[in-house]
Amino acid sequence: MDVLNSFQEYLNSLLLYIQLTDLPNREEEMATIIKTEKLKKSYKMGKLQVHALNGVDLEIEEGEFAAILGPSGSGKSTLLNMLGALDKPTSGRIEIDQIDLFELGDKQLSVLRRRIGFVFQFFNLIDRLTATENVALPLAIENVNKKKRHKIAEELLQTVGLGKRTQHKPNELSGGECQRVAIARALINKPHFLLMDEPTGNIDSKTAKDLMRLITQLNEEKNVTIVMVTHDTKIATSAHRILHLLDGKILSKGDY
Ligand SMILES: Nc1ncnc2c1ncn2[C@@H]1O[C@H](COP(=O)(O)OP(=O)(O)OP(=O)(O)O)[C@@H](O)[C@H]1O
Ligand SMILES: [Mg+2]
Repeated sequence: MDVLNSFQEYLNSLLLYIQLTDLPNREEEMATIIKTEKLKKSYKMGKLQVHALNGVDLEIEEGEFAAILGPSGSGKSTLLNMLGALDKPTSGRIEIDQIDLFELGDKQLSVLRRRIGFVFQFFNLIDRLTATENVALPLAIENVNKKKRHKIAEELLQTVGLGKRTQHKPNELSGGECQRVAIARALINKPHFLLMDEPTGNIDSKTAKDLMRLITQLNEEKNVTIVMVTHDTKIATSAHRILHLLDGKILSKGDY
């Protein structure tokens, strides 16, 4: 019976993949990988309505390194969470790989989320796990065997320059190193793109510079599409394109 159940589960997940890759209107040319139209997000706070996003239209091309620059409270994290399918907008459209997120059910959304690498502002690493175990976690959830997932995790730690820190736990690593572990973890599912929320927010400027070098390298050499949120103008200049966000809106060129 167990065998039958797991076979059924396997079939279900296969079906989800097929549905996702076979959805209509998917063009052969995959140039635009993220698109939003009139994206709005409001929060109700008692009688008060907070408009965190006020109609955001943006397009991110495959292979791009885009920075979203804006002051505190401008809606950067809110926007990034929507792009990562971690939260739903109040209105508007989001397309990822030309798939309209509103057309997907919860299960399909969770499959889609695996295509997206997310680096959180405060690392979100698990303290009692080693760097390798932290990076391998998404594969553990998918029941990839330990030897295989640790091998992949160690290779990724090597890529981010932490080949000698694989057995360290987060409290035995510096802030910059923790951020690298978080980046390696975000890369483990071979995501279509990487979303980063203030990747340099909690580290000193020298470490931030090294980290930006790594991010640029991932983009240029490994062809990873990157959307990075920051409030730091200097950090944003590493990107190909800077989108200015203010009061939940992307500013047009003449406005800044
Ligand atoms: N869950 C929530 N409930 C109510 N208001 C919220 C919620 N999340 C965010 N906001 C409000 O929405 C606005 C945008 O918040 P957001 O976190 O996106 O800003 P941010 O640009 O990421 O800021 P920071 O640079 O400080 O991280 C803020 O005014 C914030 O107070
Ligand atoms: Mg934020």
